[in-house]
Amino acid sequence: MFAASRIQTRAFSASARNLSKVAVLGAAGGIGQPLSLLLKLNPRVTDLALYDIRGGPGVAADISHVNTKSTVPGYEPTADGLAACLKDAEIVLIPAGVPRKPGMTRDDLFNTNASIVRDLAKAVAQSAPKAKTLVIANPVNSTVPICAEVFKARGVYNPKTLFGVTTLDVVRASRFVSAIKGTDPKDENITVVGGHSGVTIVPLFSQSSHPDLSSDAELVKRVQFGGDEVVKAKDGAGSATLSMAMAGARMADSLLRAAAGEKVIEPTFVESPLYKDQGIEFFSSKVELGPDGVKEILPVGKVDATEKGLLDACIVDLKKNIEKGVAFVAQNP
Ligand code: NAI
Repeated sequence: MFAASRIQTRAFSASARNLSKVAVLGAAGGIGQPLSLLLKLNPRVTDLALYDIRGGPGVAADISHVNTKSTVPGYEPTADGLAACLKDAEIVLIPAGVPRKPGMTRDDLFNTNASIVRDLAKAVAQSAPKAKTLVIANPVNSTVPICAEVFKARGVYNPKTLFGVTTLDVVRASRFVSAIKGTDPKDENITVVGGHSGVTIVPLFSQSSHPDLSSDAELVKRVQFGGDEVVKAKDGAGSATLSMAMAGARMADSLLRAAAGEKVIEPTFVESPLYKDQGIEFFSSKVELGPDGVKEILPVGKVDATEKGLLDACIVDLKKNIEKGVAFVAQNP
């Protein structure tokens, strides 16, 4: 009897774990399409729900022919379509919103993207309040606080399940360093903390196996403004989409692996105690993920004098970006 019930419990938890619905909002965009394709290739995803204000069902039909097991429904751009897309989702990724053009900062996107993210957050609060929400839409430093405010107003805010996706910053840092040092990027695990735009992006090379690099101002700047290289090269056709899709798919996979009991550490922009005494509510640092989302926020650790200066500059901008998001929801609930 005992053995049978134990087997039953194990079977249940295994099948529960085997069902992972992931929803992508903005799935037909430059990021949304390759991101959805990569998620289709992830065997941990069993139901891939795609929504966009245009083209969602088309992208879904196309990706659904890839011969992996997951189902790929595409939803109509209606309130009902959005609600059905979100229902029972374990993870919601939000790459919806306009990207930068040459000469623009991420903050220049605020006016358009703030209301897009606010409205999608309302739908998440309504239809998937327990989902892990991964915000890709820029400016991440403000769109994450926007989601938090929307969730708070609806009584569903859980700081353990709201993430700003900053994975691309560590992906870039790892690649840039390995190119300089002639090493394999998989061995270059560079910590990047702060936020996700310009000077709020702070690489901590002193903690890597190449502490000398923290004095390489050009490299630091390249990590902080790596996105601008792509915007410039695309010459008006958008910003990073393919590398971002890889980074977003990695973050989603990390959460799915953590939900399955693996120990996973990812850098991500979350509500954080690290700089709360300086009025900073959200901060990106290494975070241990667990079945419920954030398990433990790891400290920034030892930094050298150059990095301390970078962090001071980061805090000034980050504070303004966060306040801007909070004020937006207060004024435009
Ligand atoms: P895109 O313009 O190619 O795609 C955006 C998609 O969102 C479009 O298909 C559009 O129809 C859709 N959309 C717009 N409003 C929507 C709504 N209310 N509901 C659902 N879908 C909606 O833009 P792209 O290149 O895919 O970039 C998307 C966002 O990701 C931008 O804000 C960009 O700045 C940001 N981004 C973030 C990065 C990060 O590291 N977190 C890196 C690169 C870009």
